[in-house]
Amino acid sequence: MDMKQKVLVTGGTGYIGSHTIIDLIQHGYEVVCVDNGSNSDTSPLQTIKQLTGVEVPFYPLDLCDLDASEQIFVDHPDIRGIIHFAALKAVGESVEKPLLYFKNNLESLMNILTLALRYKVKGFIFSSSCTVYGDAPESPVTEQTPWQEAASPYGRTKQIGEHIITDTIKDSAMQGILLRYFNPAGAHPSGIIGESPINPPQNLVPVITETAIGRRDQMTVFGTDYPTRDGSCIRDYIHVMDLARAHTLALQYLFDGKQNQSCDVFNVGIGNGLSVLEIIAAFEKETGVKLNYKLGPRRPGDVVAIYADYSRAAQLLGWQPQFTVRDIMSSAWKWEQYRTQLMENSLK
Ligand code: NAD
Ligand code: WQD
Repeated sequence: MDMKQKVLVTGGTGYIGSHTIIDLIQHGYEVVCVDNGSNSDTSPLQTIKQLTGVEVPFYPLDLCDLDASEQIFVDHPDIRGIIHFAALKAVGESVEKPLLYFKNNLESLMNILTLALRYKVKGFIFSSSCTVYGDAPESPVTEQTPWQEAASPYGRTKQIGEHIITDTIKDSAMQGILLRYFNPAGAHPSGIIGESPINPPQNLVPVITETAIGRRDQMTVFGTDYPTRDGSCIRDYIHVMDLARAHTLALQYLFDGKQNQSCDVFNVGIGNGLSVLEIIAAFEKETGVKLNYKLGPRRPGDVVAIYADYSRAAQLLGWQPQFTVRDIMSSAWKWEQYRTQLMENSLK
């Protein structure tokens, strides 16, 4: 029997990382996880055990500490792949604290690359973002669409991060894949794991579910005078389990030796641009819950419309989205109800 290949998932107790760990385990990988807990707690590890039967070795470390982080590789010198999710991701906070973002996101990246090369890791997958395109003049965007100025220091950490990886691994035996996610949303279909950040969420779908359950009184649609079909912004919402799958496929692509260049890049969105008002309508229709929202002014820094051309991921990785916007809404709602119940029980 084949030995299971070992993969280190950084930021693995976070939203996308925890869902990806489930997909990796279900596709036969052995996972090691590191997270410093700055935006998550360790509860996803228990849920992963519940769903997969596997207890994932966990390192509660800050990747900005190179020496401490080396212990992971001392204990697991056979790590073949790294999926690097660990980063701070609050766009607004990055505008207020740019150095915090440059320091955390870039220092952790440089450290993990240092260790990856030192321990002869084969494949490196990076969480990039559609934010690297800035205010793209038209959609769908392809991987060749030229970058515009990043709208925030957070976005710039992703642009710089892509350059750091490309330059660093160019002449090494390690190969890399940069995945540019569009708007991840939804939760595992079980409804017992989902997005549960320590910092209050700013993203549309968790704001919707938090409003629907009553944790927020009301939500605001940011801008209704954009040049779009209904005046609100258009985005490409991708189910978190579809996104998780893209990571497993990307890793397999590298391990199978299918990539003939040092570093490659893929858009991961479903190519279906939906407006804020359409998302709200989809939530209401899917759940039967009426949402208390008002129409408000634009949010600074928002781009009008962006969605993906994902044909490259389809062609080379064999990736196809399996979930619809309805699945996003039903799973996000199932998870919101479940976690609210958990929180209420813990207060009793
Ligand atoms: P998340 O905050 O839920 O997960 C990130 C995890 O990284 C957190 O658990 C946090 O505690 C950890 N972390 C941060 N700095 C660390 C450090 N120095 N050392 C160790 N752990 C650290 O966010 P997410 O939504 O799961 O995002 C994962 C990745 O995907 C991030 O790189 C993010 O920038 C990127 N991304 C996210 C989105 C999105 O909308 N969610 C879109 C595009 C790209
Ligand atoms: C989506 C739409 C808002 C909240 C962000 C990052 C991007 C990437 C994905 C990491 C926008 C509108 C939102 C609300 C609203 N992340 N909205 N009321 O801004 O597209 O992308 O996450 O890389 O870099 O910028 O996502 O979910 O914040 O907003 O009307 O209360 O929903 O204006 O049009 P965004 P979002």
